[in-house]
Amino acid sequence: MNSLWQDEDAAECEDTLGTCVYASRLLGQNSSLVLHGGGNTSVKVAENDVFGGEQQVLYVKGSGWDLATIERAGFAPVKLEPLQQLVTLPELSDTQMVNELRCNLTDASAPTPSVEAILHAALPHKFVFHTHADAVVTVTNTPSGAEVVRQVYGDSVIVIPYIMPGFDLAKACKDRFDTEATVGTVGLILLNHGVFSFGDTAKTAYERMIALVDKAEQFLKARNAWNIHLEAVPATPVSTERGALAQLRQAVSAVAQEPMIVTTSSDAHSLSFARRDNLETVSQQGPATPDHVLRTKRLPLVGQDLDAYVDNYKAYFQRHTPGDLTMLDPAPRVILSPKFGLCTVGKSAKDAFDVRDIYRHTIDIIERAERVERYQALSAQDIFDVEYWELEQAKLRKGSTPPEFTGEIALVTGAASGIGRATCESLLERGAAVVGLDLDEKVQTVFQSEAFSGLICDVTDRCRLEEVLDKTVKDFGGLDMLVLNAGIFPSSADIASLDLDAWQRTLNTNLNANFILLQSAFPLLKLAPNGGRVVAVGSKNVHAPGPGQAAYSASKAALNQLVRVAALEWSKDHIRVNSVHPNAVFDTGLWSEEGLRSRADHYGISVDDYKTNNLLNVAITSRDVGELIAELCGPRFAKTTGAQVPIDGGNERII
Ligand code: NAI
Repeated sequence: MNSLWQDEDAAECEDTLGTCVYASRLLGQNSSLVLHGGGNTSVKVAENDVFGGEQQVLYVKGSGWDLATIERAGFAPVKLEPLQQLVTLPELSDTQMVNELRCNLTDASAPTPSVEAILHAALPHKFVFHTHADAVVTVTNTPSGAEVVRQVYGDSVIVIPYIMPGFDLAKACKDRFDTEATVGTVGLILLNHGVFSFGDTAKTAYERMIALVDKAEQFLKARNAWNIHLEAVPATPVSTERGALAQLRQAVSAVAQEPMIVTTSSDAHSLSFARRDNLETVSQQGPATPDHVLRTKRLPLVGQDLDAYVDNYKAYFQRHTPGDLTMLDPAPRVILSPKFGLCTVGKSAKDAFDVRDIYRHTIDIIERAERVERYQALSAQDIFDVEYWELEQAKLRKGSTPPEFTGEIALVTGAASGIGRATCESLLERGAAVVGLDLDEKVQTVFQSEAFSGLICDVTDRCRLEEVLDKTVKDFGGLDMLVLNAGIFPSSADIASLDLDAWQRTLNTNLNANFILLQSAFPLLKLAPNGGRVVAVGSKNVHAPGPGQAAYSASKAALNQLVRVAALEWSKDHIRVNSVHPNAVFDTGLWSEEGLRSRADHYGISVDDYKTNNLLNVAITSRDVGELIAELCGPRFAKTTGAQVPIDGGNERII
């Protein structure tokens, strides 16, 4: 492992906290050191209080921040002295500890300090860094881990046996440090957990971390246990098993009692691990560090038997609980499938992807530990104590209502522009994972969110639609909401002169493509945990056509009839199908400044008046339509199907 430290970059940091931010980000960008919010860092600085007196302040990573992207605001400033006093107490519950941490902040608006703040405070060095480095965790998750660590590091580190993170760990580290540290002590190795390094400058603490981790890597390399070559094995094509994956998601969601995202990785690494001979043994040991248990659960589900997994989880809970704890949902977060590889589960796309990243590292850790000796994780009781930590239970009791489409998946056609784009935005804001399709390549970059997948797709291309549905199921697990929005508005032509190609092109896009998509999506919508939903974007023209737009009006009227039949046929499968009929939505690609002016001139009114030329005299925006579409998919319309909702400011010809 190489140091990424650059003196020129560090010199640009404005102060001591700045160098801590810089070093933290260097640590954070290496996923074999920390992953997704793991690890923590701190620096001790002297500051003036409001009376002008000097006090020592510990800036420690605040909860909710990721080392890879942390900023100054991500560090919680806590008065150092009270923290150093706390560690002298014989005992302190974790709830009391968090209360003390918050009460001793010097900035009331700061995030809650890391639960490891007291440990950071107890160590005398200015900079203290903590990671869950893969190499160290690998070595310590073997039966001879403690011995190997002593052999590899000699007395340059203090070796701490596993203790649950929190007050007890801080106290043990402080006691051991006070009695055993020498001038040559550069870090702490926490068995089955991670590594601490420290120093009087950020550079020293950072480079000591790299050197400590490198020693473990070199040890593994010397035993041929670092570079893992896993044979590429063919995955089962998702196209043949789309339904099986969506069924798996439905079953997992039923156990969790809420819709879940399931993402599938069929890379060589994941697949060959999922087909390992002794998979049952190696995968049923527990996570590589207790920090992962809240994301990955204690054990993965191997194969298909979800009922047995749930029974096991309930038995594990019963066996270990002292009796007054609330059981977490028993759904697995990691599924190892010989057919598909690694499926990971989360309440949101981000959660599912984070679990995927964590478990990919776990696979490496297990493979390496098995090559060097044998993978051996913490006891079930130790893992249980973290999973059912009083702080986590308190979070459960507090509860919070997640956005209404959390864990659900929507597909929107015509997503690069106008109403489609606005609909994606409204669905994303409500917590859905969204797949946006468009001819326009802009669709790929229209939203920068893990929950959005923008795919180039001509909806009239049947093969591409199938590919897109495969990808949707592979990335997110299924399909809950379908928004039929892509449409074209051809230039005006009387029937007498209407070109047949133009007619067919319009019907192909506005009607036939939607028929094909409805048909292909139906088996997935049927498996939606909260019932499937379809919204078609019609038009005022359905009920009030105008001359010169035969193809457009006919295509939209036929689409309207198609989805009404779908509402009739699919109600038994709990799929709701509704339409919106917008009119005159001017902030979209269908309208140009020139087109607007010519329509306004036609009516002899100004462009502004034309924009609000409806009964309510209001302008309709694509945002308005997107919000209506999202609402139609949501709980307020849970009992509505086959409806057609105009969004046109009121139109005499419709009313
Ligand atoms: P827009 O032009 O801003 O968006 C339509 C999107 O669909 C574009 O990004 C386009 O690239 C995409 N698209 C077109 N053909 C496609 C294909 N074959 N495959 C994939 N993507 C394709 O227009 P707007 O206004 O947002 O239109 C959305 C829907 O709203 C259309 O169905 C339209 O008929 C309907 N509508 C619009 C009204 C308005 O005043 N803007 C009024 C009534 C209905």
